[in-house]
Amino acid sequence: MMPPGYLIRLMQPADYERIGEICRAVYPHETPYTPAELAAHRAAFPQGQFVAEHTPTGEAVGVHFTLRLRMADYHIDDSWDVLTARGTFADHDPAGPTLYGADVFVSPDHQHHGLAHALTDATRGLVVEEGLWRMVGASRLPGYGAVAGSLPAAAYVREVIAGNRTDPVLSAHLKDGWSVVKPIEGYLQHDPESANWAAVIQWVNPACPPPPELALR
Ligand SMILES: CC(C)(COP(=O)(O)OP(=O)(O)OC[C@H]1O[C@@H](n2cnc3c(N)ncnc32)[C@H](O)[C@@H]1OP(=O)(O)O)[C@@H](O)C(=O)NCCC(=O)NCCS
Repeated sequence: MMPPGYLIRLMQPADYERIGEICRAVYPHETPYTPAELAAHRAAFPQGQFVAEHTPTGEAVGVHFTLRLRMADYHIDDSWDVLTARGTFADHDPAGPTLYGADVFVSPDHQHHGLAHALTDATRGLVVEEGLWRMVGASRLPGYGAVAGSLPAAAYVREVIAGNRTDPVLSAHLKDGWSVVKPIEGYLQHDPESANWAAVIQWVNPACPPPPELALR
């Protein structure tokens, strides 16, 4: 359900600067997206670049960036850099049966309003509309860094799935209908909060079952 005062639409060039600012705020250890990178995403797959707009101001306050891939061309523990062709989306495959969720983030001032949920619903809508098999992504684990010295990542993820721990990102993704495939190390280059771990996640389109030879292992 869409929270009042917001709408979901496709990214436009007028959003680029604001998206860079939000990126700087939510990923202090990463270089923010440049207008040229965002233009490349839009050129590769315009219908997969979603923005949450705050309607009173017209400003972008959240994004979900996607591209289509054939996951059989990759390994389950490939990094974000590999899966996005170093952030260019040049590897977008118009025939790829998987919608890969390259990024989702919401401005800190607008978090906890259900915008990530609404953005995820929009990407799920695209999977259904384009008749795709599934969405795949990787969830950061920003609660893991604090306990990484005493708990293996797989145990941490199991505890979050069981509801015995809350992770600020993975718990939200699980609530949004994603399920965990497996934890992987080194997905992002600079994610000390997650001790450089992430969890591969997926949502399978019930209307489009997987070719068995292509199931994730
Ligand atoms: C992860 C992230 C995208 C979530 O965005 P968000 O818009 O706050 O997400 P939602 O509002 O849909 O859900 C977040 C929580 O708010 C709760 N919520 C939703 N609507 C709410 C409302 N009206 N009032 C209070 N809480 C609400 C949700 O239930 C959820 O709770 P949970 O964390 O206990 O599961 C955001 O925290 C973010 O940008 N983080 C930094 C970037 C990042 O790590 N992105 C993920 C990359 S894998």
